[in-house]
Order: sequence, then C-alpha cells, then structure tokens
Amino acid sequence: MPKYAKDQSVDFKNTIERVAIVGAGGTIGWHISNALLQTGRHTVTALSRKGSANRLPQGVLVASINYNDEASMVAALNGQQFLIITMAPTAPRDSHSKLVQAAAKAGIPYIMPNGDEIERLGMQWITVCCGFWYDYSLAGGDSRFGFDFDKRSLTIYDDGNTKNSTSTLSQVGRAVAKVLSLNELPQDENDNSLTLSTFLNQGVYITSFVVSQNDMFESVKRVTGTTDADWTITHVDTKKRYEDGLAQVKVGNMAGFSKMLYARAFYPDDPSDLSAKAQNELLGLPDENLDESTKVGIDLVKELQRRVERMAA
Ligand SMILES: NC(=O)c1ccc[n+]([C@@H]2O[C@H](COP(=O)([O-])OP(=O)(O)OC[C@H]3O[C@@H](n4cnc5c(N)ncnc54)[C@H](OP(=O)(O)O)[C@@H]3O)[C@@H](O)[C@H]2O)c1
Repeated sequence: MPKYAKDQSVDFKNTIERVAIVGAGGTIGWHISNALLQTGRHTVTALSRKGSANRLPQGVLVASINYNDEASMVAALNGQQFLIITMAPTAPRDSHSKLVQAAAKAGIPYIMPNGDEIERLGMQWITVCCGFWYDYSLAGGDSRFGFDFDKRSLTIYDDGNTKNSTSTLSQVGRAVAKVLSLNELPQDENDNSLTLSTFLNQGVYITSFVVSQNDMFESVKRVTGTTDADWTITHVDTKKRYEDGLAQVKVGNMAGFSKMLYARAFYPDDPSDLSAKAQNELLGLPDENLDESTKVGIDLVKELQRRVERMAA
C-alpha cells in the first residue's frame, strides 16, 4: 500500500528533521553531517563511542554510546527519524548489527546502512551508490588509484585507459542532504514529485567524474605543475594485481584488501562504471571541476597519513 501524507496524523510534518549519524567525525560522515547542517533543515546527532577522539563538524550534537550496552544506543536513537551509518570498515563485525537492532527498538523508520538486515526488522533503507571517492582514493596511496605523492610514483593498471565512475566526498554529502531534504511522502496519489519514499529500499546513484588513471595523471600534472619526467611510473597487469592482493589477504595482511578492491574495479573487460544510472540531474547536483577536486585530494594526503598513524597508535 503506498503511503501518502494526507493519510497521516494531524501532527505529521512530511519532513526529515532529526538525523542520527554514526561516524560524523569520519571521512565521509563529516561531509554528510556538514551538508545536512548547511540545509538548515536538520538537527544532526552523532552517535559516538565514549572517549572517541574524532572531531565533529560544528553544530553536530553528540550522544555517547557503547556498542556493548544496547540501552545506550536505544536512548541515543529515541525520537530520531533517520539513521545514517558510516562506520569504519575496521570496526568489530557485529557493531553494525548491534546498532540496527537498537534502531529497530527505538522505532527508527529509515536507515542508510553499510549492511542489510534492515528490512527483516521492519525498517526501510536507502544507500548511496557513488563508486570510489575520487579525492580520498587519489590521496589514499599506491594501493588505491596508484598515486604516491611523497615518492611521486604512480602504478598504472594495464594501459591506464580503463575508466571508473567516481564521486567526491563533498558530492556524496550533498546527495545525502538533498534526499533527506525532500518531502518524506507524496501528498496524495496525484503527487508525482520526488520524495524520500522514491528512493526507499534502493540505491541513490551519483557520480562526479568518469575517469581513467591517465585522466587523473593529466589532472595531477596540471595541478602540481609537474611533467612525466618528475614521476616514476610502473605498469602492472590488473588481474595479477588483484591476485597479489588476494594472496596478501589470505595470509592475514589486510593491506592487500584495497589492492584487490581497486584492481577489480579497473578490469578492462568489466570496469566499475555506474554513470549510466546516475541521478545527479534528478537531485540537482552541481557539475564539479576535475582539477579542483584533484587539488582537494592532494590536500588530503597528509590528513589520511595522520589518520593511519592515529589508528595504529
Ligand atoms: N567509496 C569509497 O571510495 C570508500 C572508501 C573508503 C570507505 N568506504 C566505505 O565508507 C564507509 C565509512 O568509511 P569511512 O572511511 O568514512 O570511516 P572512518 O572515517 O574510518 O570511520 C568512521 C567512524 O567509525 C567509527 N569507528 C571507528 N572505529 C570504530 C570501532 N572500532 N568500533 C565502532 N566504531 C568505530 C568512528 O566513530 P566514533 O569515533 O565517533 O565512534 C569513526 O568516526 C565504510 O562502509 C567504507 O566501506 C568507501
């Protein structure tokens, strides 16, 4: 049965105002929280582990939680309308499930997850399908888009011409803020406007750039004022790189994981390109400039290195 605003109780406001987010101080969560706050339509509450050293965007409220104390999560989620989970992939495997169970108990209707037990518990989900984060992946070292800015080296998969669809961190943030700023439900059966419910239990597809490593390299050279002669370039066979990453993971070396993930996305016969499904126009997302985003990525290099050091400490 489709749900319409006209059938809801008199105090139904048809907007998402109260958003809870896990990882508001993290890589993508920071951008999502910031974009939500900028709409002026939402209060954003970070569900954060007690004692977390992560810095949050200004204006985000904090609710301390303990993943081993369900009551702390239910209390933090009570009264929230939407839960976004941007949890570190390194978090204990059951943490996501603990959160989702607590969300069901707190009566949360919608979740943007990184897992999928939501429907079984009677809630609805929306995910963002964005491909690799362009700026993050450019900055994140040799095992991602192949760039090591400290060494000025570049590992190119095959001939470097295979294209991937990618999204910047800020475009992901804007997309989430757009979707959560839509009316929650259509007014009635004649209302065909875009609403949050349009996206329920399916992906929101977005993209910033469809680029090859060679395209990225041209942009990097323009932004840094360097030439080929300044860079050490190595070519690898993409499928061999995937196998090497897999072999590392099999012996417990998780450094192989990103190698596998990125190499797979650059398979020449089956690259990761979601651009045909992109809904940028539908959501009114802006066009971005590749070189500006490359600059943002290069500025992120040191921050990501610090983050790895913090996590290792
Ligand atoms: N498309 C891409 O290119 C791409 C790249 C990287 C990641 N991702 C995906 O994006 C999602 C978020 O990644 P991210 O890089 O934004 O995460 P992140 O910055 O590494 O961490 C996000 C948050 O997770 C929480 N956290 C950290 N360690 C935890 C632990 N041991 N137990 C529970 N919570 C913990 C922290 O929140 P508090 O300190 O506040 O508790 C942290 O702020 C993941 O699903 C990942 O797979 C996508």
